[in-house]
Amino acid sequence: MKTYTTLTLERDGQTAILTFNRPKVLNALNTMVATEGLDAVQTIGNDPAVRVLILTGAGRAFVAGADIAEMENKTPEEARIYSELGHRFMNTLQDLPQPVIAAVNGFCLGGGLEVALACDIRIAAASAQFGLPETILGIIPGWGATQRTARLAGAAKTKEMIFTGRRFSSAEALDMGLINRVVPDGELMDTVRATAALMCRQGQTALRHAKKVINQGLDLSLAEALRLEIDTFVTCFDTDDRREGMRAFVEKRKPKFSGR
Ligand code: COA
Repeated sequence: MKTYTTLTLERDGQTAILTFNRPKVLNALNTMVATEGLDAVQTIGNDPAVRVLILTGAGRAFVAGADIAEMENKTPEEARIYSELGHRFMNTLQDLPQPVIAAVNGFCLGGGLEVALACDIRIAAASAQFGLPETILGIIPGWGATQRTARLAGAAKTKEMIFTGRRFSSAEALDMGLINRVVPDGELMDTVRATAALMCRQGQTALRHAKKVINQGLDLSLAEALRLEIDTFVTCFDTDDRREGMRAFVEKRKPKFSGR
């Protein structure tokens, strides 16, 4: 796999693992991380041999937010470039054809929460800590949290998070619907890999279509979204994966999907 200076990208069978790797600064997101992260995600998106992407952080943080040392000297014009780059990175992650799981191993603050929210599924270690502390720096979240948090936890919880900047636990994040599951610290990566393995067994084209319908449907009226479901359901019928999945069931064997 490609090599980066601020990230590691590894393959584990049909799964790719992207690790934020600046542990000395708790994996803070500077321009280099955003640039390399975008490149890594685009690389995965173009590699059909990768069935699932896992994101995690080295050391005691998932990501402790944007790099404040780098941000301190930014002009408004530079801030726009940084925010737009972050949005490109997050949108590419959200629209990746493959499912993406965030394995939240520690501090998940500011931009870290924004990265996790752009993933499809979030599984967190019990000791992980969450929060949107930007307002103490005199700014608002700039990589999507004002919108993605509100879509999961509602506007009132999002306002409380942003207005207070308060850190909160995995248990509270679960309660708010921000994450899917909390596991004991030592079990995080095994649980995430097992979840990825379940996804790898399923029809690849079906997962791709399901992700697209769920994501796109959220921006449509219910009637339009249900119409999109019908059209996509029909599209699935013309795939090799659909023919193989149903034939394998009838022949009482495991399906061997081609991803076509
Ligand atoms: N940007 C730049 N550097 C950061 C950082 C960030 N977001 N978060 C942590 N670091 C650096 C610290 O400056 C410190 O560097 P140093 O060893 O050179 O002093 C190192 O990472 C370790 O952090 P430290 O604060 O010593 O660890 P801690 O356990 O006492 O506290 C946090 C951990 C996460 C609570 C604290 O680092 C923090 O509040 N970070 C900023 C979080 C934030 O505001 N994020 C949103 C930014 S928009």
